[in-house]
Amino acid sequence: MKILGRTQVYLFFASIMMVFGLSGCGGDQQGSSDGASVMQAAANSANVSAQGGPSQTQAQRSIALPPMGWASWNAYGCNITEDLVKTAADVISDGLKKDGPLMKAGYSYINVDDCWFAPSRDAQGNLVADPVKFPSGIKALADYIHARGLKFGMYEVPAAETCAQRNNLYPGHTNPMGSLGHEVQDANTFAAWGVDYVKYDWCSPDGTVDDQVAGFRKMRDALDSAGAAVNRRIVYSINPNSFHTDKTGRSYDWGQVADLWRTTEDITYDTGTPGHQSTPDFSRIVNQNFYGNLFPEAQHTGVYNDADMMLAGFGLSAAQDQTHMSLWAISGAPLILGLDFTTPVSPATMATLTNPEVLAVDQDPRGLQAIRVAVPQNGLGVWAKLLAGQGRRAVVLLNTTGSAASITVNWKDLGLDPAASASVRDIWAHQDLGSHTSGYTVSAVPAGGSVMLTIAGVDDASKIHPAKPVTHEDGVARYTVNATAGGYIDVTYRNEGKSSLKVPLILNDSVLTTIQLPVTTGQAQGTVTLYMPFVPGSNKLTFVLPDKGRRAPSIGKVTLIAAPQPALPPIAYEAESATNIIQDAAVQACNICNGHEKVGNFVNSDSSLQFNGIVAPADGEYAVPVVYISADDGGGSPRAMSVSVNNGPPVPVQFPGEGTWDFPILSSAQVMVPLKAGAANTIKFSVISGNYGPDIDGLGQAVSQPAKQ
Ligand code: GLA
Repeated sequence: MKILGRTQVYLFFASIMMVFGLSGCGGDQQGSSDGASVMQAAANSANVSAQGGPSQTQAQRSIALPPMGWASWNAYGCNITEDLVKTAADVISDGLKKDGPLMKAGYSYINVDDCWFAPSRDAQGNLVADPVKFPSGIKALADYIHARGLKFGMYEVPAAETCAQRNNLYPGHTNPMGSLGHEVQDANTFAAWGVDYVKYDWCSPDGTVDDQVAGFRKMRDALDSAGAAVNRRIVYSINPNSFHTDKTGRSYDWGQVADLWRTTEDITYDTGTPGHQSTPDFSRIVNQNFYGNLFPEAQHTGVYNDADMMLAGFGLSAAQDQTHMSLWAISGAPLILGLDFTTPVSPATMATLTNPEVLAVDQDPRGLQAIRVAVPQNGLGVWAKLLAGQGRRAVVLLNTTGSAASITVNWKDLGLDPAASASVRDIWAHQDLGSHTSGYTVSAVPAGGSVMLTIAGVDDASKIHPAKPVTHEDGVARYTVNATAGGYIDVTYRNEGKSSLKVPLILNDSVLTTIQLPVTTGQAQGTVTLYMPFVPGSNKLTFVLPDKGRRAPSIGKVTLIAAPQPALPPIAYEAESATNIIQDAAVQACNICNGHEKVGNFVNSDSSLQFNGIVAPADGEYAVPVVYISADDGGGSPRAMSVSVNNGPPVPVQFPGEGTWDFPILSSAQVMVPLKAGAANTIKFSVISGNYGPDIDGLGQAVSQPAKQ
């Protein structure tokens, strides 16, 4: 799914080179082999060149599970005070008793968001807390929180002004108080105050992704050094997407830079009145923050997509709160609550936030994000998360339509043996629903709601295939994987160093992700599980490992495993390809699209897109998947276009919508077409007068259909 831009690949290899160029990672023994040749090998593999990069301290960073806690922004915006933060800490921990239900459930971070600082820095340029709102100072607040067994987080930005300052939401605080140019000084201040977690927020439409990488790395390096000096691991949470989603979105795997990163714009936004956030909007929660957070190849244990701070307990219905929680849990998202703790938390909200089975899905050790495995009808989705252990999956049946609907989850879509019995459990109701072969149907998933299940079945052995090791030298381990679509791999490894390592993994020379390898001891091997957007056929995997001599980390076996299968077909023909004929339509940037581009603006009667070079092994009838974006069904009828094959007669095809145009999600539909043997087929999509066409990402491979009787 993620094809890197030239600069991103360039920048990425820059990082690798720097890692090799530095002396010693995390205090480990320095290796002897030639970093430059490793670099060259890696560069050859991705067909790029490189220079410059990150610091050695990157290797020392790792967190395990997605953080759980609370942050001040959603409830209080700029009206945050020391007392409100203390109240949150007291409710979560039950004060010094340290046994509040939220704390026992795992919520541990208390994070102060924007608007905590004084109107100006002190004479030495140090950050200072606002003396009216935080009269005891930040160190005292951190001590208060730590005394309750909790951890403490703070907010800053890589710009001159914080986000609230930029938006004129913090009256009387007009001097720029961002960390730009003060990174090391501010990181030292945070470390001295006892900060355990820093949220660093881009909050600007300016700058390229490369600028963002540089800005975010600066604070990461500063926090690593400052944290190491006080023997504390400071969690680094970044938001590259505030005012920047059009340029960033999900286009970059931030695992190399941060522990967690926002993927979308804000779940709630300032209304322009300081302290007053917008009221929760369930559609925004689902469409923007859940769908928009879908970036499964970037996430596994230790590196997390962040769907934003939560709005559960903010006046949504109990069922909507449950769906919100279910979606965050199945995403393996950080669970940062936003509640106003000055009013009592209702028993229903408390039960939703502390359901141990739902939290266990969020905190599953594999750390993976759910993928959508089936779309029985637009607006109905089956989302599945691969859990640790054998044959275990979590499933959310999501119904965003206006009426209750029956939704079936099929074992084959989960990578489970359809003939074997699997037990099904409703984890909200804490109720076993029996054992079933083939699949399970919930006959009435509520309108605008969901059902969350766990399934314990038998992994489908026919789906398990070892990858073929190709070369393993100079710190570059290459494998080939035969796949039919995106899928999951288990990677065994050894890392006998002193700290976790984050190392790059390249798929097919173009997709870059981060793989985190926790420390292993002795002969023991570790295993990490990753989602890879494989294409049908042979796929190349290249692990780029730092050279650490005797203790060099190594990759062992790579195995394609039985796991959930993505509902969307892989793209075989890009809409934006230069070999197509585009008439009165436009190639448009698209973060969620294959190749990060689509063709859209099918609005005029002569607008069309002709795909050339469609391959068919023999003359016959074929099903060709079209991957597209459309979102009118909520307020209109499905979009339609006419499809003509090899200049044949036009046939109308409907493209039902899903999601919203602001927060789109990819859909797919099949067109049934006659093709000729060879690679000279054309498929042309043309506007039907009076209809808009959907935006088209591309076509999947043509699949031969049985001859009609
Ligand atoms: C941005 C962020 C929010 C919040 C505010 C504070 O909008 O995305 O999460 O931190 O800034 O001003």
